[in-house]
Amino acid sequence: MQVWNDYLSQNKQRFLDELFELLRIPSVSADSKHKPDMQRCAEAVKENMLKAGCDKAEICPTGGHPIVYGEKIIDPSLPTVLVYGHYDVQPPDPLELWHSGPFEPVIKDEKIYARGACDDKGQMFMHVKALELMTKTNTQACNVKLMIEGEEEVGSANLGKFLEENKEKLKADIVLVSDTSMISMEHPSIETGLRGLTYMEVEVTGPNRDLHSGVYGGAVANPINILCQMIASLHDENNHISIPGFYDKVQDMSADERKALNEAPFDLGEYKQELGIKEVWGEKGYTTLERTGTRPTLDVNGIWGGYTGEGAKTVLPSKASAKISMRLVPGQGSDETAELFTKHFESIAPDYVSVKVTALHGGEPVVTPTDSVAYKAAAKAVETSFGKAPIPTRGGGSIPIVALFESVLGLKTVLLGFGLDNDNIHSPNEKYDVFNYFKGIETIPYFHKYFAEMSK
Ligand code: BES
Ligand code: MN
Ligand code: MN
Repeated sequence: MQVWNDYLSQNKQRFLDELFELLRIPSVSADSKHKPDMQRCAEAVKENMLKAGCDKAEICPTGGHPIVYGEKIIDPSLPTVLVYGHYDVQPPDPLELWHSGPFEPVIKDEKIYARGACDDKGQMFMHVKALELMTKTNTQACNVKLMIEGEEEVGSANLGKFLEENKEKLKADIVLVSDTSMISMEHPSIETGLRGLTYMEVEVTGPNRDLHSGVYGGAVANPINILCQMIASLHDENNHISIPGFYDKVQDMSADERKALNEAPFDLGEYKQELGIKEVWGEKGYTTLERTGTRPTLDVNGIWGGYTGEGAKTVLPSKASAKISMRLVPGQGSDETAELFTKHFESIAPDYVSVKVTALHGGEPVVTPTDSVAYKAAAKAVETSFGKAPIPTRGGGSIPIVALFESVLGLKTVLLGFGLDNDNIHSPNEKYDVFNYFKGIETIPYFHKYFAEMSK
């Protein structure tokens, strides 16, 4: 719409400046040293909601970091869109690999570089700016509620309770989330599923103290060696996960679904080149797109033990540990998978060591419908702003709260994400294309317009 284009082109620089202000706040939810920054960031989000035209915006304290809630209700007879996003970010380290400071946003080659540029401050802020666009041009088509949390990157432990306690306040017709990716700007797409997650920590203990590896080495099991053997045994020669029962409840995709999924534009050569790998790896019998979108996986996220300082120390350590996460697909349950893992990991521990297994957090997988009014409105919005109909894809990432929107609030979600898989989220040099930021701000108001029209 012309009024939107005009408003956007007149306010471009300010829309960038305001995002940069938010990106300068190091809102790292995992690190307690950033607790004051979390509060500061929540306040900044609240102020921006009010500036965008919200009648009400508030900071809701939780047992952890606060949730920011705002709303602009124009007419109770119109549909209501509940926007979800997160203002917390992943830790920025390793710092030395950043080309510019993680909390000193810069634009280079038309890309915004900063921690949170894409995941999720940049994407969340598009909704705040889109709301401003609509309120300032008198074109808001749906009631809008915004719920922006500060604990997504650490498992959203307090958000479930918030949903339970605020069912009335959060009443809506659809949840709209921009926290996922598209294939590319030439091939716009909408993710129609997220994987679940089960996150474990294991500790293997051998002798009751660190030992001299010359005096005892060869006669006492080294917990690091044993842990490595145990981890290696978690995949078989076909890269299937060897935990008994792990795949029992996995819902396989139909031949048609697989075919559709593999028709998405994807260049394996480019994929490998961009990652600097000679070959891709994965479960036998599945393509790369199937492996990331539709199959469960198991990855070690960190492993430690023994001496890792400068130079050499000949030690046979007493303990070794690892963080191991599993991505889940429809049919699998997070708690159930944690139990299967625990039972199996304990059972494969040889008598030379003892093991302790702890479940850290998890979330359930989701599939979002493509035959709903909301999906159709989103597809039409993308088609309007990109000039091309979006391709439905399955994302590999997880947003655990999405399953709870359905089970607690009875709401379906549309994953209207504008990131790219190579935006380096959770990595050094996270970026978000300036183009994508504005494309998102342009697309979102169309979603509201079409959702209102098509809901009639
Ligand atoms: N925005 C991501 C999830 C995502 C990324 C979905 C790309 C689809 C495409 C989210 O912030 C995230 O990182 N989630 C975590 C899970 C959480 C419990 C720490 C994840 O997927 O590892
Ligand atoms: Mn995110
Ligand atoms: Mn993330």
